[in-house]
Amino acid sequence: MTFDPVTCINWEGLDREFQQIQETHRVYMQKLDDVSKLQLSFAADIKRHGKNQKDLSRLMEKKGLSEEDAKKVDMIKSQMKEWPRALLEMEAFLPKKNGLYLSLVLGSVNVNLPSKSSKGAYKDEYEQFKLYVTVVLLVLASLCLFALSYRFVDALLNFLLVWFYCTLTIRESILISNGSRIKGWWVVHHYVATFLSGVMLTCSCRTPCFLQFLQYYYQSGCLYRLRALGQRHNLDLTVEGFQSWMWRGLTFLLPFLFFGHFWQLYNGVSLIVISRGSDCVEWQVSVAAVCFVLLFLGNFSTTLAVVRHKLQSQKKPKSP
Ligand code: COA
Repeated sequence: MTFDPVTCINWEGLDREFQQIQETHRVYMQKLDDVSKLQLSFAADIKRHGKNQKDLSRLMEKKGLSEEDAKKVDMIKSQMKEWPRALLEMEAFLPKKNGLYLSLVLGSVNVNLPSKSSKGAYKDEYEQFKLYVTVVLLVLASLCLFALSYRFVDALLNFLLVWFYCTLTIRESILISNGSRIKGWWVVHHYVATFLSGVMLTCSCRTPCFLQFLQYYYQSGCLYRLRALGQRHNLDLTVEGFQSWMWRGLTFLLPFLFFGHFWQLYNGVSLIVISRGSDCVEWQVSVAAVCFVLLFLGNFSTTLAVVRHKLQSQKKPKSP
């Protein structure tokens, strides 16, 4: 029996399908081209409009206006009040130049995600990544402490910590570039932690690991509820509902966080005492002591500032 490919498979159907795919690809490339042209012109429009707004605001600052003109100026000012924020929100969906750190690590690739859902999905993935690596770190740290006291396992754990914190700094820079309001200190915290992981041994890793579990629970709960707020027709959740959940979560989490912060202070002070002993010759001890004290100061003051800010904004009267 001979093999005839033309009759064996539906050649014409396959050919039509291929032509269709080629056509779709052509349209797709065309649309991509249109989108990049639109991005360029839209970015230029936003920039020009922002400059015009500033010029107009400067002109309106002029003194000695008649009562009628002053009223007009007030009306224009109140209409323009929301514009800068709106422009910033629009800009968040346009490609922009990376900051110094991302340029050094990733080059000039565009890290701005094109839609709200992809930004949300990236944030979800970031929280999950933290959880999974924390599990691995916890297992490895327990092994180091209770089962395998080899220098190699120690080194592996420290290497994993350095890699983990480095990765977090990159992911957080991408999140910030996509409009996340992560406080600068948490990013600095991960730089300091990267440095510290490079110089310290494993003994004090247990508490931060446990704390990272609780933080994951709180942050993923916030993310879930914020997403639900955006789809209120599906899930009956209100802003007040979110706030009450957030406060319950925070009330549970805060004692553990403060315990962790004072644990860092305790580590720092203990290391300072050890480093002052005459038999201590390793420079790592004093460096680790400074890092722990720095981490305590930054973590404690930033967490207090976050809670104070949340309390103040809760007290503010809500606009109707
Ligand atoms: N690391 C990374 N991102 C953080 C963060 C942290 N420690 N704390 C807050 N964020 C992010 C939030 O997810 C949010 O992101 P979004 O704008 O993309 O939605 C943004 O920063 C603003 O969050 P904010 O409203 O200020 O705080 P929150 O309610 O999300 O979290 C705390 C409040 C106190 C629970 C949180 O800041 C925290 O866990 N702090 C303690 C961290 C710490 O001390 N770690 C060391 C332990 S030893």
